[in-house]
Amino acid sequence: MNEEGDYHPRKSMASVQQVWKALEDAICACTGLSPAAFFAVVSVAFAVYYAISGFFAHYSSPSPGTREEMESLPPPVQLGEITGEDLKAYDGSDPKKPLLMAIKGQIYDVSQSRMFYGPGGPYALFTGKDASRALAKMSFEDKDLNGDISGLGPFELEALQDWEYKFMSKYVKVGTIKNIPKIDHHISDHSET
Ligand code: HEM
Repeated sequence: MNEEGDYHPRKSMASVQQVWKALEDAICACTGLSPAAFFAVVSVAFAVYYAISGFFAHYSSPSPGTREEMESLPPPVQLGEITGEDLKAYDGSDPKKPLLMAIKGQIYDVSQSRMFYGPGGPYALFTGKDASRALAKMSFEDKDLNGDISGLGPFELEALQDWEYKFMSKYVKVGTIKNIPKIDHHISDHSET
């Protein structure tokens, strides 16, 4: 006796196979791909999606400073115009001084993100400097750790702009870097002798 509606393992296996076959046919009909190729494409698409969304999360998640850390910080002190040389004193080597970093000559107090910018942090090398060039080029190289934005391409300038917006919205601006006119070393060397 095997009335319709009775559960039967072989019958249910057959229906799973039928559904799978129908799915394979649908994949072939809709995409023109074999099921294996289709699933490979879907896997690659997921991998790309996660890689890209991870990249954006990198830019958008909140600061790593805990609420207690932020509450115990002294309020940012306005410095006005200072030289690039003065800015070096705020690179984290003196724990009593705030951590400062500049983008396009604008100085921000990044003390709330000590985990990033404090000594030993992954971005400590930006602190006490104008890091515009490094940020634009996504570079950690010594030669790029400065505020020279000459010769950057449009994508690099756009990336820099995004960093500037991020810093403007996240940190308090505490000053600007005084623009010292470039000294022509040939002339000064010559005048010294
Ligand atoms: C393998 C490459 C990289 C990985 C995995 C990575 C990862 C991260 C992560 C997880 C954060 C924390 C995001 C947050 O919680 O707000 C972060 C922040 C940051 N990243 Fe990267 N990063 C990479 C490359 C770079 C490069 C090349 C630069 C620039 C040269 C850079 C500059 C920064 C800066 C400035 C912040 C802090 C932004 C802020 O103050 O909120 N990163 N990164």
